[in-house]
Amino acid sequence: MNDTIPQLAAFDEPSLDAAFATLAEEVCQTSATLNDVEAFRLQWLGRKQGRLKLVSDAWLKSAPAEARKPLGIRFNQLKQQIEAALEAPAVAAGPKAAAIDFTLPGTTHTPGIQHPLLKTMHEIVAVFHQLGYSTNLGPQVESDFYNFEALNFPPNHPARDTQDTLVIAEQQSRPSRDRLLMRTHTSPVQIRSMIAQEPPLRLVIPGKVHRNDAADATHSPIFHQVEGLCVDTNITFSDLKGTLDHAMKALFGASVKTRFFPSFFPFTEPSADVQISCIFCSGKGCRKCKHSGWIELLGCGMVDPAVFAAVDERRVELGKQPAYQADRITGFAFGMGVERIAMIQHGISDIGHFYSGDMRFLEQFA
Ligand code: DAH
Repeated sequence: MNDTIPQLAAFDEPSLDAAFATLAEEVCQTSATLNDVEAFRLQWLGRKQGRLKLVSDAWLKSAPAEARKPLGIRFNQLKQQIEAALEAPAVAAGPKAAAIDFTLPGTTHTPGIQHPLLKTMHEIVAVFHQLGYSTNLGPQVESDFYNFEALNFPPNHPARDTQDTLVIAEQQSRPSRDRLLMRTHTSPVQIRSMIAQEPPLRLVIPGKVHRNDAADATHSPIFHQVEGLCVDTNITFSDLKGTLDHAMKALFGASVKTRFFPSFFPFTEPSADVQISCIFCSGKGCRKCKHSGWIELLGCGMVDPAVFAAVDERRVELGKQPAYQADRITGFAFGMGVERIAMIQHGISDIGHFYSGDMRFLEQFA
């Protein structure tokens, strides 16, 4: 490397190109070999003796007026090259690599953990996988047909009011069954699955659902469900009871009892709410179970023949064989809220904790 900057013999563009090319080459060499970023910076950008300052003194100041611009452009390019080299790994890595002090404590990276909600969701899914169920997923933006109509919620039926729906804008020109909305439950994936597959079917469907609910300690406009569907010949209500009793014991402990309370869902007949004996007071009655000894956990029932009929109608429209004749095929379905189950498992009283991103909350599940 030359310590001094030679005077320029000529200021025409080829001469300038040649002179700056030499300097650019010098920048490359010094940046590749120097293992001290600060020394490199001083050498080139130092305010008094930096090479760029010397170039400016030697060339820019003596340049004839018409050469100022082409010289200035090349000067700035050289400066950018130096600044880029300062950022570049070759220079940046050098001094660090040389300066590693192996006696210092290392940087610790806390391993990530599964979010408590996902953990519970996976636990539920795993219980059913062990029973031979497989997993299906469906879209969160759903059509009225899958979310409501095929599940036996007729248009304008009051049963729709229980699922305050967030609809997608600008859908008025479409036929009502094609209008898009945010799915209010995972049940539409039952329909999608039956249209796609013939029985027998054993499915769990985990996923996110959306409702126009105000957030409070137990509600969130976005939450999670796990749906289940089992369809075959000779599936009975006893199969439903046995399956869900097993699942509740697997999730909450073998001493938990279940009971089935008559309920209503448009897509199941008969329908039931499943309650488990209160895990906080073992059924004696406490504040958590409102002194009843029981906690309501999920909905379920036998698949309504009207649902099978809607599925087969759609299968035929799509050129498939009907496969869900209600005189031959029966099935049960269930749906549970993941937040609710996780809250009971861990004794969490505010649903908002799941979404707050507060590390003090999340770290408890590590
Ligand atoms: N989809 C219902 C809801 O979100 C839950 C449900 C109830 C699902 C009964 C089912 C079922 O599959 O059989 O409120």
